[in-house]
Amino acid sequence: MVKRVDVQNLMVTGGCGFIGSNFIRYLMERADFTGRIVNVDKLTYAGNPDNLKGIEDDYPDRYLFERADICDFECMEEIFSRHGIDAVCHFAAESHVDRSIKDPGSFIYTNIVGTFNLLEAARAHCESFVLFHHISTDEVYGSLGAEGLFTETTPYRPNSPYSAAKASSDHLVRAYGATYGLPITVSNCSNNYGPYQFPEKLIPLIILNAKEREKLPVYGDGRNVRDWLYVKDHCAAIWTIMKSGRRGETYNIGGNMEMENITIVEMICDTLDARKGLETGTPRRELITFVKDRPGHDRRYAIDFTKLQTELGWTPGESFESGIRKTISWYLENSEWVRRVRNNEYRSWISEQYGE
Ligand code: NAD
Ligand code: TYD
Repeated sequence: MVKRVDVQNLMVTGGCGFIGSNFIRYLMERADFTGRIVNVDKLTYAGNPDNLKGIEDDYPDRYLFERADICDFECMEEIFSRHGIDAVCHFAAESHVDRSIKDPGSFIYTNIVGTFNLLEAARAHCESFVLFHHISTDEVYGSLGAEGLFTETTPYRPNSPYSAAKASSDHLVRAYGATYGLPITVSNCSNNYGPYQFPEKLIPLIILNAKEREKLPVYGDGRNVRDWLYVKDHCAAIWTIMKSGRRGETYNIGGNMEMENITIVEMICDTLDARKGLETGTPRRELITFVKDRPGHDRRYAIDFTKLQTELGWTPGESFESGIRKTISWYLENSEWVRRVRNNEYRSWISEQYGE
């Protein structure tokens, strides 16, 4: 087992998104990472420079940003060479299932072709290359019935264009390990929640709509089950795998926290109703609106992370109760971030910076 990764120049793709930005913040504060991070992000609608506010100033010698599209192979090659990239932690993806249903094309390019380009760039630098860690999702396994858990050997059965594209990228990464001996690890994680999540996903959307007393859309009967993990626990799991995971292996990451969507929505309503300053008016549960179900909506996800727990000693640290309280507080306390995201204000900053 490799006990530490001696990484000098780590490329983090998608570092301005939800999990990527949390991961960069997490890693920069760790004593066991002394290398440099090169954050490669295209800044799509989901990539927000505000998510990493202060990082460049706090770590001028150890953090730098490259605005680039992972679908552009020459550009990836050039960034690998210029920065001497010796490891990749690959988050960049189109990540929202509903968008993948309406417009699957960008999911195919970014999630599949983009991953292929990064693998090819890493292969070209194989001699000095330490690790390609690929971030993936439990959604590749498809949907569970009332019983059972996804393990690392559950057959892939993706049901949405998003999960199908992620599944394809997982296969490519594994194949580069097997065929070219590229040092790879893959992690398949359950649903994350926490600070900096774009408010199109269930939890931030419901928090912000409930705060503003807007409708709370719940798909179908609201009884679909997801296994929730606080984002910082995901970051810790990723770093554990990067440091000590066996090369060529896949690790499932989960929160041991299965919840029906309706339960989460009700919990958020009740927490806001009880909060000082937000308590007046009718109960927020009255805002819940059952809407048309998502096509191909997976019924239940649940993760068995025994392998990660027994081999590498990782377990989630945050309970759902404490994690959701922290998350709600974060969205209430960061109204400037919320305002800018909701009004798309950082787009004008991007236009100014990059002349678009
Ligand atoms: P996100 O949508 O918040 O962020 C994605 C980031 O990738 C953005 O910063 C975006 O600008 C960037 N990006 C998109 N296309 C790009 C391209 N072509 N080139 C360069 N950058 C590009 O996503 P997230 O929720 O942070 O998810 C990150 C990764 O984790 C994804 O691979 C996703 O599949 C996986 N994952 C997410 C969850 C979850 O609950 N959010 C759970 C398990 C796995
Ligand atoms: P989401 O946050 O989009 O994550 P994923 O689809 O990757 O699991 O959705 C989580 C669950 O919440 C999923 O079962 C769909 C449901 N959902 C709603 O009921 N209403 C909404 O407005 C959204 C965005 C999701």
